[in-house]
Amino acid sequence: MAIIDGKVSLPHVVTMESLSSQEVMGLIQRGLAFKKGEARAAISQEAYVSNLFFEDSTRTHKSFEMAELRLGLNMIDFDAKTSSVNKGETLYDTILTMSALGVDICVIRHSEVDYYQALIDSPTITASIVNGGDGSGQHPSQSLLDLMTIYEEFGHFEGLKIMIAGDLTHSRVAKSNMQILKRLGATLFFAGPREWYAEEFDAYGQHVSLDEIVEQADVLMFLRVQHERHDGNESFSKEDYHRLYGLTQERYERMKASAIIMHPAPVNRDVEIADALVEAPKSRIVRQMQNGVFVRMAILEAVLHARANQ
Ligand code: CP
Repeated sequence: MAIIDGKVSLPHVVTMESLSSQEVMGLIQRGLAFKKGEARAAISQEAYVSNLFFEDSTRTHKSFEMAELRLGLNMIDFDAKTSSVNKGETLYDTILTMSALGVDICVIRHSEVDYYQALIDSPTITASIVNGGDGSGQHPSQSLLDLMTIYEEFGHFEGLKIMIAGDLTHSRVAKSNMQILKRLGATLFFAGPREWYAEEFDAYGQHVSLDEIVEQADVLMFLRVQHERHDGNESFSKEDYHRLYGLTQERYERMKASAIIMHPAPVNRDVEIADALVEAPKSRIVRQMQNGVFVRMAILEAVLHARANQ
């Protein structure tokens, strides 16, 4: 059951595909209510959460921590660098251990795509899994904060023209967002190097040139060039990438008056977006970071609600 007593209830949050549109809208509304200070967390039980980050993170890790503190949850510290992972412990055994210790929710970031499947299928692991990013697979909490930011700006998704540009094949953010934005009625356009575009993306939108779409798009979402996933094979200099595929001052001036700039961050300044435009009036990048705390409060609350009603 997805909605219990009018509240979103989710045993795990691992992909956007696994969330219904009703659940997505419920989480956005709840995030907005937390942001306005209108909502009191509906958490009936004492709960323990551990954030297990096996890949680097600033925003996702720290905003989950902030969300947990705001909800009054008990946080169990975990540092992959000083854990038994260094003795060869597998991810499965680490989560099995956390679950056995009484941790209710494991927020996990890991380089392995779909790492979460074995954890949620386990008959022994009782902890709920919240995916903080699996390799180049999915990033549902980032997608939800992006949706919250777009909805806050426009009040709807239907009919919006949304461009996602850049390192699409390596981006878990792009994969989560293209699926859900199309489902919610947005029209998607992709831009950036053709070699970072996969045929499977045709199911969600069309590849166009940045210069073709920059004047029409309501949302221009730029993606970080993920150097760490390129095996050292960079096809562009930073200058060339910025000139061909980045948001320059000239392109900024051609945007619609109502259009906004988004980026999941961290931004490679002067690569995806000109340094001076990262905090420009049309940029919502700082707001995305702020909204991340509130939507993650909504996610954690929904998971705890499901656990209280098992
Ligand atoms: N956007 C995002 O996931 O940032 P971090 O890698 O810093 O968490």
